[in-house]
Amino acid sequence: MTEPNPNFKIEVVRDGPYRVRGGVPLRKMSQVCTNKGEPVDWKDHGAYETKQDSYILCRCGQTNNAPFCDGRHVETGFVGDETAVTSGPWGRKLSYYGPDGLTVSKIVRLCMNSGFCVLVDTDFIELTEESGDPVKKARAIKMVEDCPSGSLVYQTERDGPEVEPDLPAQIADTFECTSYGEIQGPLWVTGYIPIERSDKAPFTPRNRVTLCTCGHSRIKPLCDGTHRPLYEHRLRAEARKKQIEALRKASQDDNSQNLG
Ligand code: SF4
Ligand code: FES
Repeated sequence: MTEPNPNFKIEVVRDGPYRVRGGVPLRKMSQVCTNKGEPVDWKDHGAYETKQDSYILCRCGQTNNAPFCDGRHVETGFVGDETAVTSGPWGRKLSYYGPDGLTVSKIVRLCMNSGFCVLVDTDFIELTEESGDPVKKARAIKMVEDCPSGSLVYQTERDGPEVEPDLPAQIADTFECTSYGEIQGPLWVTGYIPIERSDKAPFTPRNRVTLCTCGHSRIKPLCDGTHRPLYEHRLRAEARKKQIEALRKASQDDNSQNLG
């Protein structure tokens, strides 16, 4: 594990943004999806320019300067109740076993439905149970390592130590695919960066953490996946509106041709 920079820190501001200290690199990353809309990898789109070592990132989902906070949370009266548990044990853990010792476990409470582990034709459970096949084993491990929240973990031997991917200490502003297009995802914090609640209670540093950016998670500041149905619903409504407008225009054109 790479030692985290001792200056790196993320502080949650009460009913406000995330204050990031120490010059933590900030990048943009999006899910790479199949034509069925399944995420299978991450794409790095490069670094954001942060002019100072300390910067603030939006937590309420209302900013007009994403991913940075522009102060809108004050106007909108954002209530950012912080109800996430700060340290383990994280509760229910479901484990699945392969024939050669590979064990993949899902910590249910940490899952935020990013979708890497359940594809149309297979899922992490099947791939783990059939991991005697090296191709399936590699796919199972990749699913675990792509899981942004750290809900999925793996051991190469039963009862062996959990293996964590070697991830850089950084924050990624993420984008996810849905069947209606791309949506804003959580902030993906990697590399054991300390995170502190607004009452100064520290979270146990973890290698993979997802922080809410829509303001609606029920376990703020952590992401619980609420943004997905919320943003997907908005995109679906926009698509339907466009469809209705197109139909209306087509019918007007038909009518004017008939009259002509
Ligand atoms: S957060 Fe992890 S466990 Fe949950 S759906 Fe995404 S990949 Fe699967
Ligand atoms: S938290 Fe400040 S604009 Fe969202």
